[in-house]
Amino acid sequence: MNLPGFYRDHNQTLCVQDLKISDLAKKYGTPLFIYDTGLMKQRYEAFLDAVSPVKGNIHYAVKANDSISIISYFAKLGCGADIVSIGEFKKCIAAGVSPKKIIFSGVGKENTEIELALKNNILQFNIESEEELNDIQRIASKLKITANICLRINVDISPNTHKKISTGEKSTKFGINFENVKTIYQRLHDLDYINPVGLAVHIGSQIFDFDYFFTAYSSLKSLADELKKNNFQVPSLDLGGGIGINYQNNIPPDFSKYRKIVTDLFLNSDYNLSFEPGRSLIAEAGILVTKVIRNKKNNDKKFIIVDAAMNNLIRPTLYEAFHEVEPVNINHNHKITADIVGPICETGDFIALDRKIQSVDNNDFLAIRTVGAYASVMSSNYNARADANEIIIYNNKEYLIKKTESIEKLIKKEILLKYF
Ligand SMILES: Cc1ncc(COP(=O)(O)O)c(C=O)c1O
Repeated sequence: MNLPGFYRDHNQTLCVQDLKISDLAKKYGTPLFIYDTGLMKQRYEAFLDAVSPVKGNIHYAVKANDSISIISYFAKLGCGADIVSIGEFKKCIAAGVSPKKIIFSGVGKENTEIELALKNNILQFNIESEEELNDIQRIASKLKITANICLRINVDISPNTHKKISTGEKSTKFGINFENVKTIYQRLHDLDYINPVGLAVHIGSQIFDFDYFFTAYSSLKSLADELKKNNFQVPSLDLGGGIGINYQNNIPPDFSKYRKIVTDLFLNSDYNLSFEPGRSLIAEAGILVTKVIRNKKNNDKKFIIVDAAMNNLIRPTLYEAFHEVEPVNINHNHKITADIVGPICETGDFIALDRKIQSVDNNDFLAIRTVGAYASVMSSNYNARADANEIIIYNNKEYLIKKTESIEKLIKKEILLKYF
């Protein structure tokens, strides 16, 4: 039995379950996203084990990877979903997730989105302002459907992560400031068609220092305890996502540390907890396979030009993110230092800069690691590039879960103006 995830066999060939990555790349073409259900399951079970001492539910954060097969796989394992748009809601429904297990987060829900979510009786809205409460209340009373409301709190914490994914500080658009919570929470009790369900926090993503979680959750709990002392109903606390994962090696996240924080704070409380992990469940379960188009040399500077680009994987240029890149079939070539770049006409189109890697030939395959989260979901058709095929591996067999759109199909979405 092979270990879950991507591994090298006795010939040093990169494999997943019983399959060779190079065979899959030849069959489906490149660039190609490959996901391993084995690793997804292992991650889900490790997270579940970490939070098992307390009362609560896991809601997979769909924004990390919204492929309906991936949502469906996590749902089969037992997850609900955390969504941030009605598009994600529709994907969850297509994936077979019950609306009763869906939490609707996000700072900018539109009225049409609120209406559809209410009509489908979703589990709860995590709201981020009093203005949003007013909109939901108006729509809920028009429909005569009660909305379950949770207030997302801005705990004013900077969790030492990339500034573009840090959501806990006062200066960001997220959450409701402490000072305003009591007044708004009182309104949750006073308004018709509104049912108070609790408080939520999410301070950001890719967080390694778990003390930040401890501080954020402690603040949330103190606030909830105080509200309860004042006879408010606070049955639930939503602790968000954000657990950091290692992009430089394949060491799993330290869920045991997370377990300690959660049990220390909540073991003896009766709050019903929600967890919204995204990246920590799916990131390492994905790779992006790309083919070398050509090697280029400019004086001393070497470039490996590949057929994956920033339209497939924007993380390196958007977040200065690091991804391991390795030849799919190990050769015995010498190592070189090169920029691994895509064909897009932007200097920012790179996979890795100044990377030490075995020299490769044209048409060799490279695997870009740890791209299960926040990769394919952010893909675009920039430079009129088709997106990538995506396959998932389940019980030693591969299944196509997303088909690349041909350029001809993309052109069909456009309307050629005849007046010129
Ligand atoms: C409200 C909310 N919950 C959960 C998540 C998932 O975070 P992560 O993928 O870091 O676990 C996010 C992502 O930023 C989020 O905004």
